[in-house]
Amino acid sequence: MKSPSAPHILIAIDGPVSSGKTSLSNAVAKRLNILHIDTGAMYRAVGLAAIRLGILPEDEKKVSDMCEKGLALVDVKFKDDMQVTLLNGEDVSTAIRAENIGLAASTVSMFPKVRRYLVERQRAIAQKQSVIMDGRDIGTVVLPNAPVKIFLTASAEVRANRRFKQLKSKGVKADYKTILEDLLKRDEQDTKRVHDPLRQAEDAFLLDTSNLSFKSSLQAILDRVNAVYGK
Ligand code: DC
Repeated sequence: MKSPSAPHILIAIDGPVSSGKTSLSNAVAKRLNILHIDTGAMYRAVGLAAIRLGILPEDEKKVSDMCEKGLALVDVKFKDDMQVTLLNGEDVSTAIRAENIGLAASTVSMFPKVRRYLVERQRAIAQKQSVIMDGRDIGTVVLPNAPVKIFLTASAEVRANRRFKQLKSKGVKADYKTILEDLLKRDEQDTKRVHDPLRQAEDAFLLDTSNLSFKSSLQAILDRVNAVYGK
């Protein structure tokens, strides 16, 4: 149990697909005994909801209506300190990891009504407890006052290669060229969209992990946290 005087820690991590946000955030959360909120999972849940209802992710009106009518209620809970993502009360943590859901998430995340809905949920979660939150707009929009902001990046080839190895290690059939193409397409969609595109906040620390080991990347983040919170 944390003492009542423990500081309310807010760490914002943004970066492109496969930049290591999730694994690094998980490791930081463990070290600091705080929760890791994966906001990408929440956009994935909306993408999954659309596909299940037979709505094309590109159909802004139908996707927005779906959110407004409460047909895609997204929430998170924690089991053994790990995030469980809920869609209308159902645990969809595994279903949202399918490759096609990533692209659907990137598409529905372009729509302002989807963003407004999820940003509100994310802020409410961060208000209640200390968190490290990862996504695309955490340092710029969701938690602009977060005392620690990290912008993680790595070259497209390094990221595609990491993703390729990750899938192979899980026994999933993977093709490097397809992964790289998908990643470049999502980079393009995420950085060029009109509403809250992926960009580095002015006060964020840029961490390029192309040539860094996981351990060194983790240490670089912990050093920033330590400088601010003395942890
Ligand atoms: O982190 P991820 O790859 O699971 O995220 C899936 C998509 O969701 C991503 O391509 C863009 C979108 N997203 C977003 O727009 N804003 C966030 N804070 C998190 C994700």
